[in-house]
Amino acid sequence: MQINRLSDALGAEVIGVDVANIDDDAFEAIHTAFLEYQLLVFRDQALAPEPQIAFSKRFGPIETRPDRPFTLPGYPEVTILSNRMVDGEPVGVISAGDFWHTDLSFGEIPCRATFLHALEVAEEGGDTEWSNIYTAYDTLSEGVKERIADLRGIHVFDRRRNKRAQVDVQFANKAEEVYGVPIPDAVHPIVRHHPETGRKSLYISPRFVVGIEGMDDAKAQPLLDELFAHQVRPEFRYRHTWRKGDLLMWDNPCLIHIGRGDIKPPGIRHMHRTMVLGDRPR
Ligand code: SIN
Repeated sequence: MQINRLSDALGAEVIGVDVANIDDDAFEAIHTAFLEYQLLVFRDQALAPEPQIAFSKRFGPIETRPDRPFTLPGYPEVTILSNRMVDGEPVGVISAGDFWHTDLSFGEIPCRATFLHALEVAEEGGDTEWSNIYTAYDTLSEGVKERIADLRGIHVFDRRRNKRAQVDVQFANKAEEVYGVPIPDAVHPIVRHHPETGRKSLYISPRFVVGIEGMDDAKAQPLLDELFAHQVRPEFRYRHTWRKGDLLMWDNPCLIHIGRGDIKPPGIRHMHRTMVLGDRPR
């Protein structure tokens, strides 16, 4: 196994691994690299759903929800992300992640790791970009670190309640309608300790965080604007142009990400996504 760093900010490419067939030693090496680089890229994988689910499960309990839209038939653990239309209907989530976010932070127990496998890629467009929120935290001034040390962010799924994320995409005006059940808000520390490394990250995102617990918006919104702008400084980021067969996994407690979209027609980008849950942020 060979591991090549992808950028100064985050990410590494793992060479010489068939994700469908890893033994415990290989798993340990991957796990160590995951903690060091936060995002891993495995090239040329031809993963069926079962081995993708099995590999994901090595990192935590798999996330499934009976009412989740666009799951793969027979595999409620696998969500289809795709811009393919059949008979005028989308076969998957078209623009997952079109604002900077960390996965499932609107839940009490958010996502630990996300696994995204590219079955088809478009010739142009469809990149994904990540930003390192460990580094974002580390580079805050001591004054800001003190100011936010005990604050908690309010994470909300419904876009209608988020002035920073109101666009009319597939689910813009639907939240409970999509899932059929109310999705309660979650409140998490703005400074999160990573469950394994213990390092601190700036655990907020413009897609999901709409306020700060116990703070008036007059104060909270300018502070959030400042923190959101800081989180995505260019030097904290890595942008990935997908190749067919790529499997990427990333560590949500220490990264935020965004799907860049802009797929040039008639390009088709078709992906299978799995997620595993982590700890209650602390
Ligand atoms: C996501 O945010 O889960 C997916 C991002 C992408 O499709 O590029």
